[in-house]
Amino acid sequence: MSNEKINAAELLQKAGEAARKAYCKYSRFSVGAALLTEDGKVYTGCNIENGSYSLTVCAERTAIFKAVSEGDTRFAAIAIVGGADNDLTRPCSPCGACLQVMSEFCSGEFEIILTDGTHTLDELMPKRFEL
Ligand code: THU
Repeated sequence: MSNEKINAAELLQKAGEAARKAYCKYSRFSVGAALLTEDGKVYTGCNIENGSYSLTVCAERTAIFKAVSEGDTRFAAIAIVGGADNDLTRPCSPCGACLQVMSEFCSGEFEIILTDGTHTLDELMPKRFEL
C-alpha cells in the first residue's frame, strides 16, 4: 500500500476497532472495515443487523456509504476483519454485494487488505457487472 499516512497494519487495526461496534445480535459474527481515501482519510464501518434479516448492512458498505455521503468517492484501500464470537484472526473476504459496490467506485487495482495479506478487486471479483 503506497500511502505515507497509514500502513496496512494500522488500517487493519482500525477495522478491528470498528468490528467491536458491530451490531450483530443475530449472527454473533462481527465485521469491521476501514476504508482509506486517496487523500489519506479513513472511514470505518461495522455490520448492522436487523430483526428483519435481509435489511442487514455489511461493514464494508457502511464504510463506503459513510464516505460517499461525505463527498469522498476516490478510494485507495479497504481493510476488513471479521469472525464469529469476536475471533477476528481468520481472513474475512467481502461478500459479492460489497465487492460490486466497491467496483462502482474503484478500479481493479483497489487494495483489499485481509488478515492473510493484500488482495485486489480484480483478484476477488474478476468479472464485475458494469451498466
Ligand atoms: N457481513 C459483512 O459485514 N460483510 C460481508 O462482506 C459479509 C457478511 C456481515 C453481515 C452479517 O451481519 C454477518 O456478517 C453474517 O453474515
